[in-house]
Amino acid sequence: MTAILKDETFIKFRDFIYEKSGIFIPDTKKYFIENRLGKRLEEKNLNSYDDYLYLLKLSNDKEEMKVLFDKITTNETFFFREVKQLEVFVSCEVPKLIAKKSTPSLKIWCAASSTGEEPYTLAMMLMENPKTSALKFEITASDISDAVLQKAQTASYGQYALRNVPDVYLKKYFKLNGSTNYVLAPAIRSKVKFTQINLLDERRIKAMRDIDAIFCRNVLIYFDKKAKIKVVENLYEALRPGGCLFIGMAESLHDITRLLKPAVMDKTVVYQKV
Ligand SMILES: C[S@@+](CC[C@H](N)C(=O)[O-])C[C@H]1O[C@@H](n2cnc3c(N)ncnc32)[C@H](O)[C@@H]1O
Repeated sequence: MTAILKDETFIKFRDFIYEKSGIFIPDTKKYFIENRLGKRLEEKNLNSYDDYLYLLKLSNDKEEMKVLFDKITTNETFFFREVKQLEVFVSCEVPKLIAKKSTPSLKIWCAASSTGEEPYTLAMMLMENPKTSALKFEITASDISDAVLQKAQTASYGQYALRNVPDVYLKKYFKLNGSTNYVLAPAIRSKVKFTQINLLDERRIKAMRDIDAIFCRNVLIYFDKKAKIKVVENLYEALRPGGCLFIGMAESLHDITRLLKPAVMDKTVVYQKV
């Protein structure tokens, strides 16, 4: 039997998800909860959404919270997404960051990395560019969803995720595994460390300090203004002075922060911590 999501339960669910993740579900998207969580009720043998909410809230079931995050997040990503920004970072921003440092090494954080395509693309581009190929760098890639992080660590991708990968990269860094899947080379995989971080979890974010560059792309769109302000404050604290932040091409920090100064480079906005 399909459970009915009552309006008052939807509001409670929506508020709970918002409080825990910053993800804001508008009133018009009740179907979002039904589509994403309806099946979970059946899997857990629960009769109602109220029972599921009770399980999440009152039994403090940490494993079920992980399942909830996996279900409610939208994890669309692909290699070489919004590549212009990444080119600006590698060619223009990295040389500037390095010039200001006593040791030529960089700490990069992909703060909503989904299944890994973004941090792996960055690692490949840094290895390939003559200006940065000798550079020491480490990339921390994090996400709220454990399921995507597990997938990222297998570093195995289908053709859809690889659709924008230039041939030269495909040949050099990927190995065909079976008929349709490609596995990424260990030299790139070893540059990226994955860990679970909720962008609203101040305690976890406090462990991220002195970062040279943060990529937090295509996630702010799921938050409301209040959550965006909180997240950007957290990211600001994680950056070292002189460090920079990239958000998605369709996103903006207008009205969100005055701490980070936008600079336009080659039609790309880079937010700098001065
Ligand atoms: C659309 S993907 C973007 C992936 C990649 N940055 C890109 O631009 O291709 C958004 C990711 O943000 C993650 N996310 C959503 N809310 C989050 C939160 N509160 N903390 C950390 N990650 C979150 C989702 O799990 C999802 O994998």
